[in-house]
Amino acid sequence: MFRYVGAAVVTGLVATAWIVVLPPSPVGQPIAFPHARHQGLTCTVCHRGAATTARAGIPGAAVCAKCHSTIPGRATTATAGREPPIAWVQVTHVPDHVMFSHRRHVTIAKLDCESCHGRIRDRTAPLGAAPMRLEMKTCLSCHSREGAAEDCAACHR
Ligand code: HEC
Ligand code: HEC
Ligand code: HEC
Ligand code: HEC
Ligand code: HEC
Repeated sequence: MFRYVGAAVVTGLVATAWIVVLPPSPVGQPIAFPHARHQGLTCTVCHRGAATTARAGIPGAAVCAKCHSTIPGRATTATAGREPPIAWVQVTHVPDHVMFSHRRHVTIAKLDCESCHGRIRDRTAPLGAAPMRLEMKTCLSCHSREGAAEDCAACHR
């Protein structure tokens, strides 16, 4: 009897370790967007909210249409205005119980995008997974270095 319980516990632990260790599977993005071909642009031309709001935002077809008469990888014309929004998949997340504001970090703390997202500008393919994992300890180690808030209520609701 105990042998079976032991085996069940071990199987459970192995299964849990497996789930924890496995990286999240890469998502497929709808268009093969290359950051590397857009290096001349300031990040906020496309990620418009990053300096002024909580969310950076991922650009829709209207932004692409400023330069592309047809969006590479899409059949219809960008200027038609009737096509569905581009279904980009957000890959960097904090859970709902965490408060995060881009404006606070980009405009007030004057941090580079790279300090939290790594080097995006050289990427030739879209992101299938978060380029940097933003865990609580990542936030806290910078906060402690920079003298920013470390109390639980600053980040958690
Ligand atoms: C202090 C760390 C930090 C900095 C600096 C930062 N980001 Fe982020 N970024 C995050 C976190 C955390 C998330 C996930 C937020 C969420 O769960 O919605 C995120 C999400 C994003 C997203 C996808 C979701 C969204 O917000 O719309 C984009 C795009 C993005 N960041 C772009 C940028 C750009 C561009 C810059 C520089 C102008 C920048 N970030 C600077 C931490 C940072
Ligand atoms: C400010 C102008 C500008 C904006 C805005 C812009 N692009 Fe581009 N894009 C370019 C330029 C310039 C190139 C490089 C063309 C080349 O290398 O021949 C390019 C190249 C590309 C390529 C590679 C094309 C190929 O033949 O390899 C793709 C895909 C692409 N853009 C998609 C997009 C999408 C999707 C958006 C909107 C989210 C967008 N672009 C927004 C200017 C822009
Ligand atoms: C021409 C528009 C354009 C420019 C300029 C641009 N991006 Fe993006 N960015 C996109 C698009 C479209 C996506 C979604 C597809 C992908 O992952 O490449 C994206 C995705 C991202 C993501 C992933 C968001 C997430 O879900 O986690 C980050 C981070 C990011 N960009 C940062 C940057 C930074 C930093 C710069 C400046 C160096 C920059 N971007 C410049 C269009 C742009
Ligand atoms: C690279 C450094 C860095 C990283 C990483 C970072 N922060 Fe910050 N954060 C700062 C700085 C500096 C400030 C102070 C800005 C100011 O003066 O308001 C700040 C301020 C804040 C504030 C406002 C605190 C207050 O006083 O009310 C919150 C909330 C916050 N950060 C959440 C986060 C979360 C959540 C993460 C991780 C996902 C994170 N930060 C990652 C540097 C960072
Ligand atoms: C600077 C921002 C920040 C501060 C301060 C902070 N947390 Fe967090 N916390 C986070 C982020 C971001 C996550 C999500 C981590 C992830 O998704 O991996 C998190 C996750 C958690 C979780 C969920 C379990 C986990 O590890 O994912 C708990 C519980 C938690 N925090 C408790 C606390 C307590 C208690 C304090 C005060 C001692 C605190 N946090 C202070 C940013 C912060």
